[in-house]
Amino acid sequence: MTAALKQVDLVISGGLLVDPERIVRNSIAVNNGRIAAIGPADEMPPAKESLDASGLYVLPGAIDVHVHFREPGFSHKETWTTATQAAAVGGVTTVFDMPNTNPPTSTPEAVAQKIEIAQRQAIVDFGVYGNIGEHNTDQLRAMAEAGAVSFKLYMGSENPLVPCPPDGAILDAFEVLADLGIRCTVHAESTPILTWRGERLLKSGRTDAAAHLEQHSDIATVEGVSRTGIFAEWTGCKVHIAHESTRHSLPHIRFAKERGVDMTVETCPHYLLLSTDDGARLGPNFLRVKPPVRESGHREPLWQALLDGTIDILSTDHAPHLQAEKKRPSIWDCAPGFPGVETSMMLMLAEVSRGRLTLPQYVRMASAAPAKAFGLYPRKGALSVDSDADIVLVDMKRQGFIRAEALHSIGNATPFENFPILGAPVRTLVRGRTVALDGKPVGHPGWGRNVVAAG
Ligand code: DOR
Ligand code: ZN
Repeated sequence: MTAALKQVDLVISGGLLVDPERIVRNSIAVNNGRIAAIGPADEMPPAKESLDASGLYVLPGAIDVHVHFREPGFSHKETWTTATQAAAVGGVTTVFDMPNTNPPTSTPEAVAQKIEIAQRQAIVDFGVYGNIGEHNTDQLRAMAEAGAVSFKLYMGSENPLVPCPPDGAILDAFEVLADLGIRCTVHAESTPILTWRGERLLKSGRTDAAAHLEQHSDIATVEGVSRTGIFAEWTGCKVHIAHESTRHSLPHIRFAKERGVDMTVETCPHYLLLSTDDGARLGPNFLRVKPPVRESGHREPLWQALLDGTIDILSTDHAPHLQAEKKRPSIWDCAPGFPGVETSMMLMLAEVSRGRLTLPQYVRMASAAPAKAFGLYPRKGALSVDSDADIVLVDMKRQGFIRAEALHSIGNATPFENFPILGAPVRTLVRGRTVALDGKPVGHPGWGRNVVAAG
């Protein structure tokens, strides 16, 4: 096969290729942005450029289906350029951006506007979520035609830009998406519980961090997950549960899957690696995120669920805010969320080094599973012939510490400050072109493409 290839653009030789099943030493030929051949080094075609990956692992780029890149509307927190630079350095080659921007991504015009902004700035590939609202269920088809990769339902929302639609509209939206065959990502919390409890806690004068956990009690998530499963079962809509935070959801997720509901689920490094105990280190308000980082007893069951496949996907919920926005005295004024797209792979590689999971398991949850869930596989999420050459070279001996000041996001308020690192991405390629090298972004804004349009 490979003998038929004349000269290719690039050969990466001598690395250990990781897929969800195994690790194999092999070389990769890349041509016109795609993988042209995989095999022993001596079978590779001649190449214009060659990279020696001896001593390195070769992974498909991570696909982060949950990021907030903030433009349009909040460019003081992040821009598409800074965010995709952070992604590239972090080994992430495709991102899906959430619609809680300003304007929110709730119309075909807003979808087109965001794609245009992203197209100008992005150095990695991207997808754009359309938002489901009370009044736009008749526009979802047009939003998909405008290039939305998927849709987001804020079932639990206190944000007036993306309010939670009534159940009737949710049902309508699920019917439309079932028809279109598009998976819907759900922020699965109960808005009635959040608003009722939020008002009660505010009136009582509480401003402490524990009030945030009381408002976002586990039951708010359990109810949201369970209701999502019921609506998905009824309509046939494929659903994706965003940022799973509580062990109490796990039986409900398993029950939905057993019933045949096409439900995928993600969790994020902050739910796996942090707990309320970290409030003492960070200042308790800093830890605020929706849904919350909970007590330490949730971490082990979430890890187990991720390893046994109950939770399918690792995402980040990259939600950058300025340090000052995270350090306000009242919990209600403290911006929720953290940057994550640059640190996720490093944090998980440190867990691989610790024996918590294997590299093939990491590739399954970070690359293969998200690509499969959102219809990108095997063009993305795989190292196979004809796949996009979205490739990350990883050095498992690279050591260091996570430092906010070294991150590329504008809102660099990471909760992982000083976390020790053992293993890091050292080169990231998107469609065959190097976009990050040794911790520095080198890709050109405009190289990133919308995964929907890319053929
Ligand atoms: O903590 C969060 N931050 N949860 C969300 O749902 C939104 C996000 C943000 O955009 O900051
Ligand atoms: Zn989010």
